[in-house]
Amino acid sequence: MQITPSILTADFCRLGETLDAAIEAGIDWLHMDVMDGNWVINRTITFGPALIRSVRERVGPDVFIDCHLMINNAEETWEQYADAGVNMVIAHIEAVEDFPGLISSLHNSSILSGCVLNPDTPVKDVLPILNDLDLVLVMSVVPGKGGQSFIPEVEEKVRTLRKEIDMQIENGGRKTKLMIDGGIKFHNAKLVADWGVDVAVVGSGLINNNGTISENLESITNAMET
Ligand code: DX5
Ligand code: ZN
Repeated sequence: MQITPSILTADFCRLGETLDAAIEAGIDWLHMDVMDGNWVINRTITFGPALIRSVRERVGPDVFIDCHLMINNAEETWEQYADAGVNMVIAHIEAVEDFPGLISSLHNSSILSGCVLNPDTPVKDVLPILNDLDLVLVMSVVPGKGGQSFIPEVEEKVRTLRKEIDMQIENGGRKTKLMIDGGIKFHNAKLVADWGVDVAVVGSGLINNNGTISENLESITNAMET
């Protein structure tokens, strides 16, 4: 299971050094949590395309960057994130009117497409578009901030999506990646890897005051190998 850091818990005044440390530790995928101060329940604002552009400049062209859009108007503004240098736009199925339309716009611009399900959004909502998606993301916290507790009840959704994606691939369909996001630490990384997750977002479990990113990444990686 691949680990991608969310930079939400980083000190934004030292973000360049944090990014350097992440790349140094072997990270090659960054997860950018965009919140518009409106869509998420606690009305948080995080950052927009300008910061993502600086991140892209700092890490260079080879690091994969996704943007997790927790915003009201992803259908109108996704191009700003594409222009800022992301490789993938991950939007919430709860916030997008015409998801198939968004997917084709993204694909026409060579941007990979992802769809997020909140903890209480059923899998059936994403099945009609699953084969068009490059990634499906199951939230294991309520979107809005880093450092929240993991919601284990999403296990059934993750396992169901794992089965659906495996069947889709067996029938020659798209190799949609399965991502989980929220509350992933060294103590539950193996658990979700065993559920069949391909990529886990880790924010406060990687970027925190207890250890370096490389130490934290190592403890998560070791935990997955036990
Ligand atoms: C929450 C974000 C998550 C969060 C993960 O709305 O989408 O990506 O930052 O942070 P941790 O790993 O600390 O839960
Ligand atoms: Zn996220």
